[in-house]
Amino acid sequence: MMKQMIHITVKATKSDPFSIKTDLLSVGVFKDHVSLLGKALDIKLKGAVEQVRKLGDFKGESKRTVLLYTEGKIGAKRLLLVGLGEKEKTEMDTLRKAAALGAKKAVDLKAGTFAVAIHQDLDKRKFNFETLSRAITEGIFLGGYRYDEFVNEKDNSRPAKLTATIVDADAAHVRLLDRGVRIGSIFGDARNFARTIMNRPANVVNPSALADEARKMVRGISGLTCTVWDDKQIRAKKMGGILAVGQGSISKPRFIVLKYSPAKATKSTLTIGLVGKAITFDSGGISIKPSEGMQEMKFDKSGGVAVLGAMQAIAHLKPKIRVFGIIPSAENMPGGGSYRPGDIIHTYSGKTVEIQNTDAEGRMILCDAIHYAVQQKCDFIVDIATLTGACVVALGEGMAGLMSNNDLQVEQIKAAAQVTGDRVWHLPCGEEFLELMKSKIAELKNIGGKWGGACTAGAFLGTFAGENKWAHIDMAGVGMVDGEKQGVFPGSIGYGVSLLAEYVCNHARK
Ligand code: BES
Ligand code: ZN
Ligand code: ZN
Repeated sequence: MMKQMIHITVKATKSDPFSIKTDLLSVGVFKDHVSLLGKALDIKLKGAVEQVRKLGDFKGESKRTVLLYTEGKIGAKRLLLVGLGEKEKTEMDTLRKAAALGAKKAVDLKAGTFAVAIHQDLDKRKFNFETLSRAITEGIFLGGYRYDEFVNEKDNSRPAKLTATIVDADAAHVRLLDRGVRIGSIFGDARNFARTIMNRPANVVNPSALADEARKMVRGISGLTCTVWDDKQIRAKKMGGILAVGQGSISKPRFIVLKYSPAKATKSTLTIGLVGKAITFDSGGISIKPSEGMQEMKFDKSGGVAVLGAMQAIAHLKPKIRVFGIIPSAENMPGGGSYRPGDIIHTYSGKTVEIQNTDAEGRMILCDAIHYAVQQKCDFIVDIATLTGACVVALGEGMAGLMSNNDLQVEQIKAAAQVTGDRVWHLPCGEEFLELMKSKIAELKNIGGKWGGACTAGAFLGTFAGENKWAHIDMAGVGMVDGEKQGVFPGSIGYGVSLLAEYVCNHARK
């Protein structure tokens, strides 16, 4: 039996921060700013907080923390001061990351209970109690997470559960905080569920195992269903792209479709299609990749898994929108049966594609899945994929590339990203890039020239959306970013889960 993940729960409670009994209390500190709470704490702790400042050890710089032992002077055994940086620059993401840092510390200290004191000095125009507690809750899930299902107990003891409390002395605030905790827990839980699947290696998660996870996930959630096509059905449907990419592996491809239907759905109910690339391992195939860093290609399923996580969150949030989660999954391997450079593939849409590089496989499975979304008459299609190294060259590891044939959708995705902290940057993918994807012996080829690789890949995918409203998120840089750089556990950070769920739910709010 594999070890269970840390069970994280968050609640909001009326209490003053001094009396709460907890293993670790975390308090945010602005740079060069002493808050009322800071002052009050300092009195209780007989100057210990001020001492830290005076000695110059900590001034509230962001991403920095100081741990103090309270010796029974307050309810908490330990006090963690978490730097928030400059007060004027504080965003939702600042608070999310600060909470993550605190929760990470709690688990590192093997503390089972953790409390976050709400900061009274925040700009009330920018934050309300609901969004505030949502961000803090998401942060607790983000930082409290560990991926250790294959590490035995002795080697890394940590609490089985993390019970976190958001404290505020004002009872009137707590009701609002509660709402944020509920939403934040749905997002945080879905994100950690996705992280675990993303982090699992390719010998554990192959396309059929991913399909099993999808089936298991929908069980017990009302309004959500899952259908899986195996390789025979994929062949019968003539999804030539998925078939070609998967044919070199003994682990056969799967086409996974999740469907969320709101209660009382009608013909006019808006339909959104989320499409995610799930290559369970990308060796490059016959155009094999260099061995250095190849182990990272277990993360090449992250787009598809982000869709899986988003569908879980959506089904709990229950927006009045129909949502398809479409996850084409294959393993890209070299072998006697592999597709080759030079092959011409009949895709599901009927368009033919000349393969010039078997490592440009993501677009070959996505084109079939996007065509499927078009057939389902989706009003909006968003695909997400660890698609190109070129996107990482362009934008680095901090943000994903966003391409689209529709400006309004770009704005909507940017707005959702602002709330969830999954950063995006708009890139072009128009005609001039599509020109580079035309083949002399088929309609398209699967690679462009040397330059603009993220944009040519985007243009390729865009043709399969046709006249439909479509956007594409290239998460190659953020899907595989080492979580440690973000101050959380190494491995996947679950990029995209919250972004997609927030984007969908925003449509219902209009
Ligand atoms: N999965 C990779 C993209 C990737 C690269 C993700 C680095 C994360 C980090 C994708 O399938 C791929 O190999 N793309 C090729 C495309 C090229 C052959 C046109 C690439 O980016 O090199
Ligand atoms: Zn590849
Ligand atoms: Zn790939």
